[in-house]
Amino acid sequence: MRVAVMASGRGSNFDALLKATRSERTSAEIVVVLSDQRGAAVLEKARGAGVPVEILDPGTPRGPWSPEGIEALRVALQRHRVEAVCLAGFMRIVPPEILREFPSRILNIHPSLLPSFPGLRAQRKALRAGVKVSGCTVHLVDEGVDTGPIVIQAAVPVEPDDTEDSLAARILEQEHRIYPQALFALAENRLRVEGRVVSVLSPEKRS
Ligand code: GAR
Repeated sequence: MRVAVMASGRGSNFDALLKATRSERTSAEIVVVLSDQRGAAVLEKARGAGVPVEILDPGTPRGPWSPEGIEALRVALQRHRVEAVCLAGFMRIVPPEILREFPSRILNIHPSLLPSFPGLRAQRKALRAGVKVSGCTVHLVDEGVDTGPIVIQAAVPVEPDDTEDSLAARILEQEHRIYPQALFALAENRLRVEGRVVSVLSPEKRS
């Protein structure tokens, strides 16, 4: 399964996905990294690992993409014969036109237990809300912001002296663990989606 990773920043989830796909038995292969940020660290990581990169120009500073930006994204995905997409710190909405071309084949990782704390700075929102447990979520992407059906979650206890950074770091460890699991399940056709509910079948129950 040919996978595009879309990322805007540091790229630690890209790294985790790349390591997992290269070291474990899976049909998932990361064939391109797409970024809307020319200077994103993820691009250096990808180049260093021999993964092709492409820069996207959404054509607008935020909000909906320009028609040209959408077309360029579509062409890039076609050029690399992409079959599934992992958003890994991609800080733009994916255009609905592209979502329709990849039904239940676009995953996102988010640093909270959704549906709590969608959007930016989820770890800070969790601390400010005083929750005792936070975590991370891999979900299928729909047209909303961090609203799609949940695939896998991991819980992370909040410690009394946590800062945004310390909590984010512990959540990130779990992100790196569950994102490959979700991608492998997608690659092995082990996700069953019924409305909002996704079942992740174990490898032996696939047929
Ligand atoms: C990760 O914590 C990811 O969950 C978050 O951005 C970070 C990217 O880190 N994504 C979102 O907040 C999406 N709403 P990375 O570039 O090191 O993978």
